[in-house]
Amino acid sequence: VTRLIAPSILSFDMSRLGEVVPQLAAEGADILHLDVMDGQFVPPITFGDALTRSLRPLTKMPFEAHLMTLTPERHFEAFAEAGCERIIFHPEATPHAHRHAQTLRKMGLEAGIAINPGTPVETVAPLLEVVDLVLIMTVNPGWGGQSLIEESLEKVRRVRQWRPEMPIEVDGGIDPETLPSAARAGANLFVVGSYLTRNPIPEGMRALREACGCA
Ligand code: DX5
Ligand code: ZN
Repeated sequence: VTRLIAPSILSFDMSRLGEVVPQLAAEGADILHLDVMDGQFVPPITFGDALTRSLRPLTKMPFEAHLMTLTPERHFEAFAEAGCERIIFHPEATPHAHRHAQTLRKMGLEAGIAINPGTPVETVAPLLEVVDLVLIMTVNPGWGGQSLIEESLEKVRRVRQWRPEMPIEVDGGIDPETLPSAARAGANLFVVGSYLTRNPIPEGMRALREACGCA
C-alpha cells in the first residue's frame, strides 16, 4: 500500500485557498482532504459542497470529503457533484453505515468510514467488505491543532492485521514527528492540517514526504 499525504484545508485562511490549493499540489500533495462539519455531529460548522465546487477547477488532485455530519447520506449527492472521488463518513453518525457505504459505491465513488477515538475498532469489522478506506481518527473530530492520541494507533495495528491491503488513513495531530509512528502502526494515508499552516508549504511538504518515505 502506497503512502500518501492528504493535506486538509481546515486550518488555512479560507480567503487564501485559491493560492494554497495549487501550491499544495505543486509541492507533492496527493489528495485534498475536505473537513465538513455540521455543528451537530461536532460543534463547529466549516463549509459544504459550494466551497468544494469552487476549489475543484484549481487542481487535478483527488478530493476526499470527510463528513463530520449527522445523516451523512443526505450529502452524498452534493459532494459527488462538487467533484469528490471519495466520501468518508462516520458510522457513529448513522444506524445504517453498511447500506450507506454500498450506496457510495453504487454512485461510483469510493466509500470511506472514519471512527472517533472513543469508538471501538470492532465497529469497522462488519463494514470492511463494503468500504475502500478506513480512517482512524487520532484526535477527537472538530478542531485542528490537537495532539495525537497514541492509543488510537493500536486500532490502526488491528485493522492492518485484519486487512494487509486496505488503505488506512490517520487524521489528527500528524506532523513529521508523529507520522513515522502512525506509519509503523500500518497507516498509509496521512491527513495533515495545522502543521502545514505553521511552516511555509514547500518546507512543510518536504519534511512530511521525508518522514513518510514517500519523497
Ligand atoms: C479534525 C479534522 C482533521 C483536521 C486535522 O476534526 O478531521 O482533518 O484538519 O488537523 P490537525 O492536523 O491540525 O490535527
Ligand atoms: Zn478530517
